[in-house]
Amino acid sequence: MSEACKRGRFIVLEGLDGSGKGTQLALLSKALTDIGITVHETAEPTQSSTGGLIRDVLAGLQKRTAYELAALFLTDRIFHNTSPAGIKSLLEKGVTVICDRYYYSSFAYQGADTELSWVMDMNLNCPEIIKPDICIFLDVPTALCDERIDHRQSREIFENVNTMNKIRARFFEVFDLLRERENIVVIDASRAIEEVSYDVVKSVRSLFEQQEGI
Ligand code: TYD
Repeated sequence: MSEACKRGRFIVLEGLDGSGKGTQLALLSKALTDIGITVHETAEPTQSSTGGLIRDVLAGLQKRTAYELAALFLTDRIFHNTSPAGIKSLLEKGVTVICDRYYYSSFAYQGADTELSWVMDMNLNCPEIIKPDICIFLDVPTALCDERIDHRQSREIFENVNTMNKIRARFFEVFDLLRERENIVVIDASRAIEEVSYDVVKSVRSLFEQQEGI
């Protein structure tokens, strides 16, 4: 087996708050584990001290400017990639990493309040930030996201329908810009959990099959 085949795959799930990323991530992880693939589940913001600060800002407990927040996400992402148990080291060990949110979220969320090209450049051109093998966007109408979030206890600063509509539109603008360089799959996640999961697993399995030349 070649080195390229031994490397783990880097899979990112994206979607609005309430799009079901957590549920789909768990199902995907199980489906891959069941076929003998070693999987590591992770998320951004991370559990690092920077991740903690980011969560405080999102919860409104600390104030930072939009530019500071974009830079905090970048710092957290570099840590996520390069720490000893981080993404880079896992992929090199042959572990497949599934990440709940990645730089696409920075583009959609921070890109609007700052300068999109600045956020994109610093993430895409950073040598310490690995490009995912696939990004799966779980697309759910914002009204349904809102309904789902209502069942939770507290809301973050981005969680209202107006803001979510704008963020969803920005995700699609960014996907358009990235079409040439990234592997992005949009899945209708307003359907039953099992149907969505079937499509998510199928997209990821085809990635493994393509890369192994099966
Ligand atoms: P969290 O509640 O931790 O996870 P989720 O809502 O995905 O289940 O919230 C993460 C929040 O962080 C979410 O509102 C989007 C935001 N975010 C950004 O603004 N920029 C980023 O780069 C990332 C990774 C997340």
